[in-house]
Amino acid sequence: MKVGIVGFGTAGEARLGAYRGTDGGRVVAVADPSQPRRDRALELDPSLMTRPSLAALLEDLSPDVVDICSPPAYHAELAAAALRAGCHVLCEKPVAFTDREAAALVDCSAVAGRLLYPAHNYAFSPMMSTLNEAVTSGGIGSPMVATFQIKRPAHARGVAAWAPDWRRDPAQAGGGILLDHGTHCVYMALRLFGQLPTTVVATAQWADSAQRMDEAVDVWLAFPAGSCRIDLSWTSTVRSNLYRLSGPDGSVTVRDGEAVLAAGAVRQVRQLTSPTGSSTHEEWFAAMFADFTRTADCPSTWDRPRQEIRRTAAVIDAAYRSAAAGGAPLPVRAS
Ligand SMILES: NC(=O)c1ccc[n+]([C@@H]2O[C@H](COP(=O)([O-])OP(=O)(O)OC[C@H]3O[C@@H](n4cnc5c(N)ncnc54)[C@H](O)[C@@H]3O)[C@@H](O)[C@H]2O)c1
Repeated sequence: MKVGIVGFGTAGEARLGAYRGTDGGRVVAVADPSQPRRDRALELDPSLMTRPSLAALLEDLSPDVVDICSPPAYHAELAAAALRAGCHVLCEKPVAFTDREAAALVDCSAVAGRLLYPAHNYAFSPMMSTLNEAVTSGGIGSPMVATFQIKRPAHARGVAAWAPDWRRDPAQAGGGILLDHGTHCVYMALRLFGQLPTTVVATAQWADSAQRMDEAVDVWLAFPAGSCRIDLSWTSTVRSNLYRLSGPDGSVTVRDGEAVLAAGAVRQVRQLTSPTGSSTHEEWFAAMFADFTRTADCPSTWDRPRQEIRRTAAVIDAAYRSAAAGGAPLPVRAS
């Protein structure tokens, strides 16, 4: 499949390398408004077609896949344009800011008859495999309580050539850490519990008086058969990652790359440390792209990624509304 990458910053550049490790995806073009970023793409692969926008790229080329790696504010608009042009779309997180925006995009993909697929790469991470295995074969039983705690001293910065601090600009990012890292935690929770939460409660530490940029957030999701706490910060004194899942018969804890499974008499310790340590996790991409191509080949499965996009947006939308209301418990609605 011929792939056009739209947005050639940190994620886009990582993607160019990651496609080389996949079957069936060949990057042929890059669109980015920044001339230095287009120059960088040509430095890495002089055979690429480069254009300043997706519209200009689509005038000259019909890629099979448009892979959107721009900042979030442009995701929905770029995805809709690519779908209408007849391309399948792989889109970085967050695909949409609200349930309403997600629903419109899902409708657009249905009308266009093309796949809309979220780059939910943490679903293909060793952490997620470890949590899944603990449930299916590790003996902890059905998930009951999950805790995801991600602490950072600051937000991740983007490429210097564009707007490196866009993550702290709500006009570009749509929110703060909840939309940025929280998106990963929410789709992981949706997959582990296999259901939409019934209620969400969230409190936030806001960086602005308009309450649009959360730099720390604490979210509690109540599922019919359990709960998940998502505790995120960009103002921590330390950098740490914790994923813990417990069931009736045991628990698994992944702390900074070390996984400990405790179920009955069993205690297993495993190292999951990333070989590259890269913040863009390109080593998880091949498995995600294999799932993307399998899904693209089978239109009857296209509802699965569409639902995940809608449900993830619905939960985050409800969490922001709860936080804005000072931690009010709110129901989560998504069709
Ligand atoms: N899934 C992950 O693990 C992961 C990791 C990093 C980033 N991301 C996501 O990737 C996206 C980009 O983040 P980043 O860190 O690469 O940012 P970045 O600032 O490094 O790069 C953004 C690039 O997009 C370009 N751009 C700006 N407006 C554009 C437009 N309208 N059309 C096309 N390109 C445009 C900029 O010129 C820049 O080159 C975000 O959605 C982010 O959440 C995901």
